[in-house]
Amino acid sequence: MEVIRRISRISACSRALKERGCAIGFVPTMGCLHEGHLSLIRQVKKDCDAVVISIFVNPTQFAPEGEDYKRYPRDIDKDCLLAFNAGVDFIFAPLTGEVYPDGYQTSINVEKLSFPLCGISRPGHFRGVATIVAKLFNIISPDIAYFGAKDAQQALIVKRMVADLNMEVEIKVLPTVRTADGLAVSSRNSYLTKEERKSAVVLYKSLLKARHLINSGERNSKQILKIMEEIVRKEPRVKIDYISLVDGETLRERKEISGKILIALAVWIGNTRLIDNISIEV
Ligand code: PAF
Repeated sequence: MEVIRRISRISACSRALKERGCAIGFVPTMGCLHEGHLSLIRQVKKDCDAVVISIFVNPTQFAPEGEDYKRYPRDIDKDCLLAFNAGVDFIFAPLTGEVYPDGYQTSINVEKLSFPLCGISRPGHFRGVATIVAKLFNIISPDIAYFGAKDAQQALIVKRMVADLNMEVEIKVLPTVRTADGLAVSSRNSYLTKEERKSAVVLYKSLLKARHLINSGERNSKQILKIMEEIVRKEPRVKIDYISLVDGETLRERKEISGKILIALAVWIGNTRLIDNISIEV
């Protein structure tokens, strides 16, 4: 396994792999690797000849104030060990100044999909995500790139960008990895105190209830959202950012349940913002 800082070096490695006919699988990450990332890496090992991951806490997807760019967990040594054990071939961990040198001013905005859900309380977030993902695709030229379904909006935005900009990369989205009590695995879970961690199961609990209601024939979104809200409000530590029931492709709000539906929520528990979702097809 090689850990690479320089853009020119990873691009050269990627070209060399391609010349040898190797299919490159790529997992973009912000580090602090967890079981969610490892499940993506395991899939790359099945699909591709070479595994590249990036570790880069991307400043442009955090608001300059009030978000956790500075305190976002970073542990490159632990990440290297986990990546090595998982069979990663290359870690690309660039310095911020090389990714965004002085004078940098271009960004990618996937307009409509970036607006609802997390886009409302995190304006600019998905512009930062789309931009860094596009840059990483240009630098690494992967054949397949892997994303987790926990970030459903992000995955849709990346797919839209790839289609709209004719990028030659296949996007695979893999299921959310959960702990035994249902909490979606996330780097931000490490911020939670013991008590907050207990309260956090309410996200999945409310999603399961929504799925159960739909499976039992409920088709009125308002009714489902009301019941989800009641469940979340029972946890005094948890503050709702949004609970939404939207079309699974356009992310437009749905009054009636039919077709592909995404049920998504974001909450604050203390200073930690957590998201989760499930997809359902009726
Ligand atoms: O999902 C993430 O960790 C990030 O948004 C990504 C895709 C690595 C871009 O910085």
